[in-house]
Amino acid sequence: MSYRDSKENENVHTDFKEKMTYGEYLKLDDLLSAQERLSSHHDEMLFIIIHQVSELWMKLILHELKASIDSIRTGDLQSAFKMLARVSNIQTQIIHAWDVLATLTPAEYIEFRDQLGQASGFQSYQYRMVEFALGYKSPHVLKIYEKDPALHEQLKEAYQAPSIYDVAIEKLFEAGFDINPELASRDFTKVYEADPTVEAAWRKVYKNVDQYWELYQLAEKLVDIEDWLQQWRFRHMKTVERIIGHKMGTGGSSGVGYLKKVLDHRFFPELWDVRTTL
Ligand code: HEM
Repeated sequence: MSYRDSKENENVHTDFKEKMTYGEYLKLDDLLSAQERLSSHHDEMLFIIIHQVSELWMKLILHELKASIDSIRTGDLQSAFKMLARVSNIQTQIIHAWDVLATLTPAEYIEFRDQLGQASGFQSYQYRMVEFALGYKSPHVLKIYEKDPALHEQLKEAYQAPSIYDVAIEKLFEAGFDINPELASRDFTKVYEADPTVEAAWRKVYKNVDQYWELYQLAEKLVDIEDWLQQWRFRHMKTVERIIGHKMGTGGSSGVGYLKKVLDHRFFPELWDVRTTL
């Protein structure tokens, strides 16, 4: 008797005239009809799916980051830690996605690259919102989406909001550390720059782990996220080099040169500096 005919499957639900199916719940018709190749090239399917999968994971990263920023603000650090650990695990998934993309050869990509026009991950608004939530504020993406007022508004809001690092610094204030008071009223649309009073506070946290256990945990969770993000950036840069060499990007940048430069940016600078000065 085959598995399909076995007793175990006798009671499987098959009458869905009145009930919601798995596919309906997940809107699979919409999801699975969103992979429209512009060329007839076999490998364009991989190219589309890898981007879509990354965007879906970014959606969850944003969902978790926003909620953890709220939790940190309200002092519920334990909930934030759980969500931030989830973010790190998602990041490892999207880093592994580069292994799949690396099976795309330059000869294959060149066959459909022209079809992309000027479209590029550079315009990924979710990626920019992740950067905003982590404190890297670059306004150029706002201009790109002026044509879509609702999205533009959403991006503007994310751009102006305090980042996860701003709320972490708020916790240092609340714990009584002598932090530069200008940081409390800083313009959140500006990229955060390292401040010696913040580094001194983190140093104290790392030297007195038992006393500042929650702040110490928060610091390490933030370092995890930045570390994984840099590894994602690095794998992106190397995969791009492998596929297009030093050609210009479809988004108009110098390509690999630009991606290497972005690697220099640090989100939580004092958390890296403190490792040297401890
Ligand atoms: C064949 C595959 C890929 C190539 C050749 C490629 C190439 C590039 C290049 C050259 C840039 C710099 C901007 C430009 O001039 O276009 C860029 C930016 C970007 N790409 Fe890709 N990419 C690829 C796959 C992906 C995938 C799978 C993702 C996942 C979502 C992605 C996300 C991004 C993001 C977010 C940026 C902006 C980075 C920043 O400004 O820091 N790319 N890509």
